[in-house]
Amino acid sequence: MHPLQCILRVQRSLRWEPLTSVSWLLFKTCKAHSTLPSTACPSPGQQEDGVHKDFSSRLATGPTFQHFLRASAPQEKPSSPEAEDPPPYLTVDELLGRQRKVYLETYGCQMNVNDTEIAWSILQKSGYLRTSNLQEADVILLVTCSIREKAEQTIWNRLHQLKALKTKRSRSRVPLRIGILGCMAERLKEEILNKEKMVDLLAGPDAYRDLPRLLAVAESGQQAANVLLSLEETYADVMPVQTNPSATSAFVSIMRGCDNMCSYCIVPFTRGRERSRPIASILEEVRKLSEQGLKEVTLLGQNVNSFRDNSEIQFNSAVPTNLSRGFTTNYKTKQGGLRFSHLLDQVSRVDPEMRIRFTSPHPKDFPDEVLQLIHERGNICKQIHLPAQSGSSRVLDAMRRGYSREAYVELVHHIRESIPGVSLSSDFIAGFCGETEEDHLQTVSLLREVQYNMGFLFAYSMRQKTRAYHRLKDDVPEEVKLRRLEELITVFREEASKANGTCVGSTQLVLVEGPSKRSATDLCGRNDGNLKVIFPDAEMEDTANPGLRVRAQPGDYVLVKITSASSQTLKGHVLCRTTLKDSLAHC
Ligand code: 5AD
Ligand code: SF4
Repeated sequence: MHPLQCILRVQRSLRWEPLTSVSWLLFKTCKAHSTLPSTACPSPGQQEDGVHKDFSSRLATGPTFQHFLRASAPQEKPSSPEAEDPPPYLTVDELLGRQRKVYLETYGCQMNVNDTEIAWSILQKSGYLRTSNLQEADVILLVTCSIREKAEQTIWNRLHQLKALKTKRSRSRVPLRIGILGCMAERLKEEILNKEKMVDLLAGPDAYRDLPRLLAVAESGQQAANVLLSLEETYADVMPVQTNPSATSAFVSIMRGCDNMCSYCIVPFTRGRERSRPIASILEEVRKLSEQGLKEVTLLGQNVNSFRDNSEIQFNSAVPTNLSRGFTTNYKTKQGGLRFSHLLDQVSRVDPEMRIRFTSPHPKDFPDEVLQLIHERGNICKQIHLPAQSGSSRVLDAMRRGYSREAYVELVHHIRESIPGVSLSSDFIAGFCGETEEDHLQTVSLLREVQYNMGFLFAYSMRQKTRAYHRLKDDVPEEVKLRRLEELITVFREEASKANGTCVGSTQLVLVEGPSKRSATDLCGRNDGNLKVIFPDAEMEDTANPGLRVRAQPGDYVLVKITSASSQTLKGHVLCRTTLKDSLAHC
């Protein structure tokens, strides 16, 4: 046995930032008692056979420490995976997918949906095929989420199911390979490999370019992992491959990582430091999507409005950052770079018929220039996600959110004055460390005061590594957390029904997505505020061709007269097919 167990810690600093990002690259040999099939994971005796002897000798002359440093060193221009030389211990042929079928399964947030498309884009270029049939897959990759304990439990349960499939396949000619991608791979690292011997590979959120190599290593029966976090990886040159080719909207990742370090949150540890993608590559992607006929783009990032492109020297000035009034950062204030308002301006000019949304922002980064632009530009949706997390200043302080309830409420008023008719949504956590009944009631009162159109509410789930884990006590009993969560949900629904009720009688511009899931005779789409709108599939006028009667197709803009509203949907009847530009005159 050649116990190549090479764990490297590489720390490096870019742009003179402090050395806080710890990077790991980790290979593991299979264990003597591995459940892997004999063809994949040899017993000591089998290792003397030609194939494995060959592999072992190549490993012996394999990568050096310098090689890993090179692999992780900052690159002037991101290079495409296929343009790189193969690692010295793998042949070009071994890096190819050779038509093996990959089944991808996504958990968690929209960022993970986009990451799935990026991972698939990389594998497709390496010669893999995609399958939506689990039974015929040669490789199963789960793109995972770690945000709450429950999210991880779902993945463990799924892995247990997949174990049976893998055991069944162990007798076949092509053994099944299983990989864990994303946040859970990053958080748990080798713990997953040790706990679930049937997992063949791990790839953290910044390691997707390495997937062909990891799969090649896994193919030889070794467990393989790359959980290096990067200070600059944005996959800027990887055009995501749309999972649903008939979709009317797409996600475009504009930044990754998070520097905020809210005390409850695992994201800075799983997704690393904040970094933005160069504006030029974002615009190029948006142009391509527009040419493909897509009608909506959602700019994505963990802190999307903290965007700061300082990829070129001329972008770097000493211009201080404008924060929302009354808000502070947990980190040293940054300066210069092209900011979110600049990007939003440029992106919205690409195609006036393309709707622009963005998620998920932090309330601290809504300076007036961003609000002004959302107000003025017809194709930027008047919808803002404004995660509050709590209505109690005391809890917000413990969460290290950088604002008080008062500053948050003032921002809400300012946004509503700046963008009349804006639709607001928020995230809340029930039962954070030390949350009293009084704190909880303050959150209830914030929900009543703001009257959000949409909400995402969660019970607090303690995560290792976070500041709350180290410094605070998870002292709200589970049943109290759940009871408070229920109360928040009830209040949110009541208020959202009222807020959405104000749309009744109005005419809304709806981007048609397709048939409604509940009724074959209805169509479904979204209004500017991102609320689902259901309406009967009926003939209507086409404003561009007077006299012509048409039926709405996915990707069409239609005007819908709203007749009823609930906390989650609007219903109405369709008036006509139109364009985004023409609709501005009607709505
Ligand atoms: N427990 C519960 N909810 C959490 N969130 C983030 N971390 C936790 C946690 N430890 C919620 C926040 C965040 C959303 C994406 O998930 O509300 O805005
Ligand atoms: Fe889950 Fe957050 Fe990671 Fe998204 S970024 S997958 S929500 S932990």
